[in-house]
Amino acid sequence: MPLLGNLLQYRKNKIGFLSALRDDGHQLTRFRLGKHSITLLKKPEDLVHVEHRNAKNYQKATMLRDLVGDGILMSEGEKWRKQRRLIQPRFHPSSVTALESLMNQRITGFLHRMESEVAGSEGRLEIGLHLKKLSFEIILQALFGEVDQGDFDELRKPMEFVNSFLTARFNELVPLPLWVPLPRYLRFQRAREAIDQVIHRYIDRKRKAILDQNPGTDLLTQMILSRDPDSGVAMDDLQIRDETVSILLAGFETTGNLLSWILVNLSREPAALMRVREEIDSSIGRRIPDANDVLGLAYFAKVVDETLRLQPSVWAWTKRAVGDDVLGNVKISKGQILFLSPYLVHRDPGIWDEPSRFNPDRWTEETKEKTKGAYFPFGMGPRTCVGKHFAVLEAKLILVRFLQHFEFRIGEEQLPEPDFQITLGFKRPLRAAVRARRSAS
Ligand code: HEM
Repeated sequence: MPLLGNLLQYRKNKIGFLSALRDDGHQLTRFRLGKHSITLLKKPEDLVHVEHRNAKNYQKATMLRDLVGDGILMSEGEKWRKQRRLIQPRFHPSSVTALESLMNQRITGFLHRMESEVAGSEGRLEIGLHLKKLSFEIILQALFGEVDQGDFDELRKPMEFVNSFLTARFNELVPLPLWVPLPRYLRFQRAREAIDQVIHRYIDRKRKAILDQNPGTDLLTQMILSRDPDSGVAMDDLQIRDETVSILLAGFETTGNLLSWILVNLSREPAALMRVREEIDSSIGRRIPDANDVLGLAYFAKVVDETLRLQPSVWAWTKRAVGDDVLGNVKISKGQILFLSPYLVHRDPGIWDEPSRFNPDRWTEETKEKTKGAYFPFGMGPRTCVGKHFAVLEAKLILVRFLQHFEFRIGEEQLPEPDFQITLGFKRPLRAAVRARRSAS
């Protein structure tokens, strides 16, 4: 349509609309949302080209900048390289394994909370919320070395609003500047302020601890103490805020939703659940697992990979070409916006056998080889997710301990429906019937 382009179809049924474009037989397909012309990438070789081989020609092009400013999630060029160099070592597999006891402490608290909830609610509880809260605590602990009780309750609503606001902003007909006093824009400003208030509380506290000669070893303290290798200049509070919000945004809804989707898939496939339980019982039993224990569970690893195939927590993103390029023999002009979606490519019937079926056994070495470039839940190339080892270890530790302690059942009354926002969440709160297997102490 002249003014709207495909906006109405996209808003009405994003996935139906995009899947039809994916399957239209063309290498690339262009669509239009209001004034934005967007090109859908489908072929693994094009995805690898844009994300990896010629990544320097593409920049991030989402609305997230409205929230995270110039933090690592959205920055570009030399600035991004310096941020990545500072943050990446913290999330290297060897450093992440060292975070296992921190994660386990938080998980013990979660198991106790669950036990008392199960006793007080006849076993029906909002499992999605509990899992989100736990991954929020773990990412905050990794960032700040501590977590204030009440932070989750203070931040949950603003974060949820921001997620839906930024998603809707992507398909606004004419996105206006955020200073225009529309009620939704004002609500977004308030949500941002609420998030900033919590972050600045931690920044002030860390600065004081440094002045008192009592610095922590957390990432925030490291950021405050860091100096630019070229100029020797320290980061100001705004930059530290942008980095912190970036990591918080990238790291908590994503992992929280992954945990929930794994439970949904296992609940739908009792045979898979039984195999996971048997694997845990035979190799870990009842003791508290460490990182090596959970990373060594071969079948469970396939369950996680298969969930990230069917329900990749970051289901799509966009990139903008900074110069002309060629994909196959199609010209991509400078300024063109490209749409990349692991969700669509992970379910492409031209690439995967029975793509909609949850089948952890598909994850053989042969499949991994065959689907290179077609499986990218954490992105690919230089901008690949910094937190992927952290997220996978966290998810495995949490779910192994959850399964050691509880029986559960999801979706007896209503099947969980996906909600395609910035992260792939749920339309309604995810509830489960849960009962204890044994005491969490
Ligand atoms: C299941 C969990 C997660 C998924 C599926 C996920 C996925 C992604 C994806 C798809 C990207 C963008 C890749 C691109 O633009 O090409 C990304 C970037 C990023 N993620 Fe994650 N992520 C997860 C968890 C985490 C966690 C726990 C953290 C923090 C500890 C984190 C920190 C980041 C950061 C900082 C970036 C930006 C990296 C850069 O641009 O250099 N993520 N993630």
